[in-house]
Amino acid sequence: MLIGCPKEIKPQEFRVGMTPAAAMEAITAGHKVIIETGAGAGAGYTDDDYRAVGAGIVDTAAEIFATAEMVVKVKEPQAVERKQLREGQLLFTYLHLAPDPEQTRDLLDSGVTAIAYETVTDRNGGLPLLAPMSEVAGRLAPQVGAWTLQKANGGRGVLMGGVPGVLPAKVVVIGGGVVGTHAARIAAGMGADVTVLDRSLPRMRYLDDAFGGTFKTAFSSAATTAKLVAEADMVIGAVLIPGAAAPKLVSRAQLATMKPGAVLVDVAIDQGGCFETSRPTTHADPIYEVDGIMHYCVANMPGAVARTSTQALGNATLPFMMALANKGWRVACSEDEHLLNGLNVHKGHVTYAAVGAALNLPVMAAREALRI
Ligand SMILES: NC(=O)c1ccc[n+]([C@@H]2O[C@H](COP(=O)([O-])OP(=O)(O)OC[C@H]3O[C@@H](n4cnc5c(N)ncnc54)[C@H](O)[C@@H]3O)[C@@H](O)[C@H]2O)c1
Repeated sequence: MLIGCPKEIKPQEFRVGMTPAAAMEAITAGHKVIIETGAGAGAGYTDDDYRAVGAGIVDTAAEIFATAEMVVKVKEPQAVERKQLREGQLLFTYLHLAPDPEQTRDLLDSGVTAIAYETVTDRNGGLPLLAPMSEVAGRLAPQVGAWTLQKANGGRGVLMGGVPGVLPAKVVVIGGGVVGTHAARIAAGMGADVTVLDRSLPRMRYLDDAFGGTFKTAFSSAATTAKLVAEADMVIGAVLIPGAAAPKLVSRAQLATMKPGAVLVDVAIDQGGCFETSRPTTHADPIYEVDGIMHYCVANMPGAVARTSTQALGNATLPFMMALANKGWRVACSEDEHLLNGLNVHKGHVTYAAVGAALNLPVMAAREALRI
């Protein structure tokens, strides 16, 4: 198969869909790989890194869209890219179609077959191509929160780990899923006094078994949340209710109960945020203050560590990409229901129920789409 990887063109996106290591695996298996010049630069990969493993470097994305049988990317195709997609071509990338009618319409019009990273599943009911980015965002949250806590950045001037004779920072993590667990581990590793709030008792039992002693858990009732938030130096928002906007768990009125210069890091901002005063920010201007409380609400946190994020995403996508290349998408999807769950669009049909429901479009069952 001819696999192509264009440079990402969405603003502030530095990741790349294929690492040189992924290209090498594909080439070793007998496939051809073409990469747009400069595609890996944001993640620290040069054209020569790709040439060294046998990939071809092309000057324009247009050459990739015109020739590649499978296009591997990171972000959803932008309007100019969507115009170049065509029937018979396979697109493997994040899509997030449900809130994006324009993109959905363009993909349907193009006739392309599109497999969305975010809806591929695993046998534990997880989302294996979303999890690595949650891991990255979770581990990054205490790091950016610690920076925001510094005086010059508007914070309380508190050091995460304290020093001998001085208490460490108090960190509260709301939501003990993938983001929350990784955030709690790193905050505890920095020496902070960490409590994770969740509403799932099985999840808290697991966290207590696995990390008891490293951080504490508490049930996320409104009363407990209010008490812990008032005492915290840093609150990390990491809740998710699948398919719904994030619940608002800290109100504006509660900011007045907090210590001046305390920090809110709202990782759940991509689902609307779990603090009432959260609004999306960018890496160029990540923090702002409301009522004396500092907010960090960057919606694409993994972009800050594009190299780590590229490698983490590449590790997760590689087995699926190889199955698609080795077997063709029809056989690969018919043999693997979890990969089939990723099929969102084929030959002008929406094939993912939640996308159809969100956009009021008819849906063809993915299994049926395998036959046309
Ligand atoms: N900003 C970014 O760059 C970025 C990157 C990755 C993920 N995220 C977002 O981070 C959020 C968390 O993702 P995840 O992968 O950890 O999800 P997850 O499903 O693994 O975990 C969510 C947790 O929230 C808990 N929860 C639900 N309601 C709660 C409540 N009221 N109080 C306390 N806990 C509650 C659930 O029990 C679950 O344990 C999502 O909104 C995700 O989109 C953002």
